[in-house]
Amino acid sequence: MAKAKTVYVCRECGAEFSRWQGQCKACGEWNTIEELKLAGPKAERSVARGMSGFAGQADGKIENLANVQVAQTPRIPSGYGEFDRVLGGGIVPGSVVLIGGNPGAGKSTLLLQTVCKLSDTTKVLYITGEESLEQVALRAHRLGLPTASVRIGAETSIDNIVSLAMKEEPSVLVVDSIQVMHLSDVDSAPGSVSQVREAAAALTQFAKRTGIAVFLVGHVTKEGSLAGPKVLEHCVDCSVMLEAGNDMRFRTLRCHKNRFGAVNEIGVFAMTDKGLHEIKNPSAIFLNRQETVAPGSLATCVWEGTRPLLVELQGLVDISQYGNPRRLSLGTDANRLSMLLSVLHRHAGIQLADQDVFVNVVGGVKIDGTSADVPLILALLSSFTERPVERTTIAFGEIGLTGEIRPVQSGLERLNEAEKQGFTRAIVPFDNAPRNKNRIGNMEITPVKNIQQLVELV
Ligand code: TYD
Ligand code: MG
Repeated sequence: MAKAKTVYVCRECGAEFSRWQGQCKACGEWNTIEELKLAGPKAERSVARGMSGFAGQADGKIENLANVQVAQTPRIPSGYGEFDRVLGGGIVPGSVVLIGGNPGAGKSTLLLQTVCKLSDTTKVLYITGEESLEQVALRAHRLGLPTASVRIGAETSIDNIVSLAMKEEPSVLVVDSIQVMHLSDVDSAPGSVSQVREAAAALTQFAKRTGIAVFLVGHVTKEGSLAGPKVLEHCVDCSVMLEAGNDMRFRTLRCHKNRFGAVNEIGVFAMTDKGLHEIKNPSAIFLNRQETVAPGSLATCVWEGTRPLLVELQGLVDISQYGNPRRLSLGTDANRLSMLLSVLHRHAGIQLADQDVFVNVVGGVKIDGTSADVPLILALLSSFTERPVERTTIAFGEIGLTGEIRPVQSGLERLNEAEKQGFTRAIVPFDNAPRNKNRIGNMEITPVKNIQQLVELV
């Protein structure tokens, strides 16, 4: 018999080594290397045995892509518009979705609510590995959820879950959480790299063969990466994070990987004493501004997946007390801030080298793209000159290294959203402004071509 092969894997980054060492050479973390016994053919057999009866996918045949039969299986609506949006338009049968998040983010609550809502129309099975059946029942009862046709089991063995699911034949299976599951063939503790990796692989294989949609709950370590190897993200179809921002009342659901739709799509929920409620118009909460505006604050419109989101950007410029002025940005890229300050100096002659510069995006929102360049500069100039920008002014646009202002995607949609929210003035790149007219509804549009024009506006 061949000897079982052993490798050593880093829990944080998934790098593999042939021998144990104290520090991972790939990511530099200490004490994260674990022994991983590669599951041989034995492990495959035990789960595969449970799945016999379904046509295997790999029958060794090569076909033309055009000839592959595609069954038109409709997506299952989860009952929550915000959740569906993040998944790319509903639950895809046979897909594996990983729901990650910190402890207490509300992963179990979200999935319990979804499962109960779904149970009206679809067969569902909820496997709880962390809480007892009574605890789950108590919560469902307290939230007033329909539980009559929800099937539930407390189980931590993947082999048993597979055979239970084969018997129940649900359309949606929830496994809460993957870190407490174990496979009998893998001899290491639940939560270890080998167990998490093999358990997720077995459930993925199960989903693909049976067409059952599987939701896996995964915990996040304190550094913000999913406990267990990165491998977990590779083998699932969608990886979704449930995050609590600065304001603990709101939870954002964000998609990091999606094989069936766009990423960067976000869904917003509020955590109340009656569970999670979806928020259909998030701009209204992120843009909850005071009546009187101070210098240094400006609204902008960012593009999240397929929809616009209005947020408030704040800048503070203050004379530096030390030789080394500070540059700090919360919610935007710090390197980009340094770059914009250089452009401001070089092309508009405004020197902030002796000033501390702080930037903050209100509500704990993170802005990735470049569309916040223009509002960021405007907010900083407003703080620097101590002249407030009107409360109903919005701005967006990218600034290039030569001081030119470049258009951003979906300009018209952003303008329409701003107009809908009652803004009366928009400062936008020349190429994003509508042709031949200088207003949309009640909103006046001010196109700008370069950073000098922007400075003249303030
Ligand atoms: P939970 O779903 O258990 O989190 P996870 O499974 O991600 O660890 O959510 C627990 C948190 O949600 C807990 O801190 C309390 C809060 N919560 C409410 O505020 N209201 C509610 O109705 C429920 C069910 C939970
Ligand atoms: Mg939980």
